[in-house]
Amino acid sequence: MTQNIHDIQERKKIKIKINDNEYEVLEGMNIVEACDAYEIPLERFCYHRYLPVDGNCRTCMVEIETPRGRMLTIGCNTKVQDGMVIYTNSENAIRAQKSALEFLLLDHPLDCPICDKAGECSLQDNYMDFGRYDFRRIVPRYFKKGKAINAGDHIVLDQERCILCTRCIRFLDNITQTSELGIIHRGHASKISTYPGKPISNDYSGNITDICPVGALTLKEFRFKQRVWFLKKTKSICVECARGCSITMEQNFNKIWRFMPRENPHLNRVWICDKGRFSFKKYHENRLWNPILNQNEIDLTQATLELENVLKTYHWNEIGWILGPYSSMETLYIAKKYFGENVYALIPPATGKKDELLQLPQEYPNEQGIRFFGMNVHQQELQSKIEKEQIKLLFIVEIDIYRFLANWRELIEKIQALPYKIYFTSFQDETSKHMDLVIPVRSHAEIEGTYINATSLLQKSEASIEPENSFISSSAVLLSQIAYLAGRIPRIFSSNSEIYNEFKNEYEELKQYSFSNIPDFGIKLSLPKIANEPFQGVKVDFNIFMIPETQLTKMR
Ligand code: SF4
Ligand code: SF4
Ligand code: FES
Repeated sequence: MTQNIHDIQERKKIKIKINDNEYEVLEGMNIVEACDAYEIPLERFCYHRYLPVDGNCRTCMVEIETPRGRMLTIGCNTKVQDGMVIYTNSENAIRAQKSALEFLLLDHPLDCPICDKAGECSLQDNYMDFGRYDFRRIVPRYFKKGKAINAGDHIVLDQERCILCTRCIRFLDNITQTSELGIIHRGHASKISTYPGKPISNDYSGNITDICPVGALTLKEFRFKQRVWFLKKTKSICVECARGCSITMEQNFNKIWRFMPRENPHLNRVWICDKGRFSFKKYHENRLWNPILNQNEIDLTQATLELENVLKTYHWNEIGWILGPYSSMETLYIAKKYFGENVYALIPPATGKKDELLQLPQEYPNEQGIRFFGMNVHQQELQSKIEKEQIKLLFIVEIDIYRFLANWRELIEKIQALPYKIYFTSFQDETSKHMDLVIPVRSHAEIEGTYINATSLLQKSEASIEPENSFISSSAVLLSQIAYLAGRIPRIFSSNSEIYNEFKNEYEELKQYSFSNIPDFGIKLSLPKIANEPFQGVKVDFNIFMIPETQLTKMR
């Protein structure tokens, strides 16, 4: 049975001793988890908090007191018991940990300088923390062959580097339940392999490269692109579907090189789907850096003058606004709060892939933001206002409406006939080809902001990169400039966090959290959910013990 976090929080606390110090831990934890809760170093490879325990690598050896004296045991497969006395640093425990590591490294190739995992490899880290033995091998190394095997759409397998921890196998057996990897041959010749004619091909395949503790599984999209220690990581969220998985955006020299899952026990645990993982590429494709007036590029000063003239030409009541679930809470808020009656939110059809793990068919991140602010979603009403010429100037904000032509044909025909149309977008797309004025805004990777996912979790996202044209604003700040020009607000907001800090005071559930205090795991709101909690299809037993957020990054 899958456990949830609340069951675990209700568990009884018991007292144990580790290395002569007393600690209070939750009943049901294993020794590795008890050590993690108090940052007591303990080596491990095969243990993974979100996978069933396998206990095969034997590196997490500890000594425990028993009625028959001290005994060695593996920490990951030994549950704590009230009064248990554990030693992670006794002479015997250390000798056992070192020996297990020496055994794993016996035939390991000396690939570190050319291995993509270097810098985030558990084998390197564990050797420095728990190994440091003198090399004793006197016979030549036995290499298992099989380097750079094409193991799937995204995966490269290096059999030589594998330490047979089976994390990847357990992920594919228990989480995706696609079982593309197994161990073939016996004893010393054992090696990891795909099955004949069955490459690794599932919507979550990239996760096995994250959990592989060594460089045996690597991503085609990241191999040899960057050394990981050069990457600057930013806490963000994926915006490819309404699940809004927690991720880190990782960039170097203002270019994003990868998205990685960011641990969030309330949401995606440590997994993300491949669609979200590889969506990092789009932030550098079709990017719009300069405004476009009647299909000719202009500069930002010319665009500002044009915008001011257009705003003077029309009465505020003749201006309409279309927003969508791609915008952050801050953008939606400015429009909803300050722009009056003609603000409409269009929600595109939910045609994406859905599964029982994470993916949702709504391929946008903030449909729930539209519900949270109670925005007008009545497309017919908007259409009728355009027909009756009550709306003459239209602003479209961050929603490529022409992409959904089949669903909104009638509305788009009416929009096309309007005297003036302005589009705020980060990318050149279908809609940008049909507008009178197109103004670039910062993309999701370039802004801080908040979003509410399908299960009503509000999360914040931080800016990872700076736009090439640093004068570009976020859509929220740009809208606040327009509201100021129109005399509808007394000041221009200078950042999205400032806007969040204004609207949070209007909502009881958010009041206590300023932008900088929003927890990394998000804030669960009482807003009705529009999807099930994730991982409905996973029926494996695993433990999610509430470990302080500050420690999570240390425990891969
Ligand atoms: S490929 Fe990596 S994750 Fe899989 S068994 Fe080998 S070391 Fe473990
Ligand atoms: S499930 Fe959705 S939010 Fe999560 S990584 Fe995939 S596309 Fe992104
Ligand atoms: S981590 Fe405990 S045996 Fe591998």
